Amino acid sequence: RKAVIRITTGSQALDELLGGGIETLAITEAFGEFRSGKTQLAHTLCVSTQLPINLHGGNGKVAYIDTEGTFRPDRIVPIAERFGMDPSAVLDNIIYARAYTYEHQYNLLLGLAAKMSEEPFRLLVVDSVIALFRVDFSGRGELAERQQKLAQMLSRLTKIAEEFNIAVYMTNQVIADPGGGVFISDPKKPAGGHVLAHAATIRLMLRKGKGEQRVCKIFDAPNLPENVQIFQITPGGIAD
Ligand code: GTP
Ligand code: MG
Repeated sequence: RKAVIRITTGSQALDELLGGGIETLAITEAFGEFRSGKTQLAHTLCVSTQLPINLHGGNGKVAYIDTEGTFRPDRIVPIAERFGMDPSAVLDNIIYARAYTYEHQYNLLLGLAAKMSEEPFRLLVVDSVIALFRVDFSGRGELAERQQKLAQMLSRLTKIAEEFNIAVYMTNQVIADPGGGVFISDPKKPAGGHVLAHAATIRLMLRKGKGEQRVCKIFDAPNLPENVQIFQITPGGIAD
C-alpha cells in the first residue's frame, strides 16, 4: 500500500486546516469566486511539490492542465526563489498543457498517465476542472450527458491519484444557488453537482478577505471540525 505524502501549501494555517498539506492518493478541490486565490494556490503547489519530503514537499514533478490560459511561468520564478530553489530547474519539472475542449482535457489525462508511469510525478493540477464542460455542454437538455462525461473524467483523476501516488488539485467555479442553500448572505455553491462532490476527497471554499488576505473553509465535511483559516497571496506565493 502506498504511503500518503502531504505537500505544503506555503501557509502553515492552511496546512493545519488540511492536516499537514494537500495529500497524494486524493483529490483536493478548491472553489470560490474570481480572484479568490485558486490559481495562485496552484502555482505555489507547482513549486512546493518539488521540495524534498523533509521540507514538506513531494520530491516530484508536476503536471498542469490549464483550461483557462492563466498559468504564468514568470509567476513561478519568485515562488521558487522564496523556497530557495532554482527557478529554471523548477520550471523544467512542470509539464504544462493547455486544453481547449472537454475531450482534449480527457485525452491529455491519458497521455499524462503514460508519462507518470515512467517518471516520479507528485502533483496534477487541473485549473479549472469544469469550465470546458460548461462551455461544451451549454445547451438545455445537455446536463445529463455533461454529468456523465464529467464523471468519466473524474474517475480518471481518481485512478491517476491512486495508481501513481499523486496529489490531484482541481479548481471549480461557483454558481448561483437559486435555493440559497449554502449561505444566506452569499447564495453560491460549487458547480458540478453530486458528481463533483462525490469525486473530491476534500473541498476547499475560498473567498476574498481584506487586500491580499484570503479565507479558506473546509466545505461540507461532516467528519471534520468546522474550521476556517486565513492566508495571504504574496509575491512568493501563498503564505501566512
Ligand atoms: P478565477 O480563476 O478568476 O476564478 O480566480 P482565482 O481564484 O484563480 O484567483 P487567482 O488565484 O488568480 O487570484 C488572483 C489574485 O492573486 C489577485 O487578485 C492578486 O491578489 C493575486 N495575485 C495574482 N498575481 C499576483 C502576483 O504576481 N503577485 C502577487 N503578490 N499577487 C498576485
Ligand atoms: Mg484562476
